[in-house]
Amino acid sequence: MEEVLICDSAAVEEGGKGVRFPVVAFGDAATGFVVRYGGQPYAYLNRCAHVPIELDWFQGEFFESSGLYLMCSTHGAIYQPDSGRCMGGPCTGGRLRPIPVREVDNKIYWQPDEHIRPPGP
Ligand code: FES
Repeated sequence: MEEVLICDSAAVEEGGKGVRFPVVAFGDAATGFVVRYGGQPYAYLNRCAHVPIELDWFQGEFFESSGLYLMCSTHGAIYQPDSGRCMGGPCTGGRLRPIPVREVDNKIYWQPDEHIRPPGP
């Protein structure tokens, strides 16, 4: 499947706001998100490992205040930004579903697979 453009690289700041993008995940409409950590973009399905709901209370706010972990706004599970592994909270040891991304020519693209694909026909 072809890569899909998410946004310009400049839209995703280190430890700052992430960018959401629409996906169909396992047959349901959902969102993915991309954040930057250690200079690299990382993307995940926007679905907590505890209860399958979105992590961000305010759209695009995925990092907790230190900028070191992603945090679920519902019960406060924290995740490593580069592995998606849950390091604390009700789903410790669980993980976010990664979505492969690639940064080329100042743009960030995601790679659909058999389970997570772009919306539309
Ligand atoms: S739904 Fe995310 S920690 Fe409970």
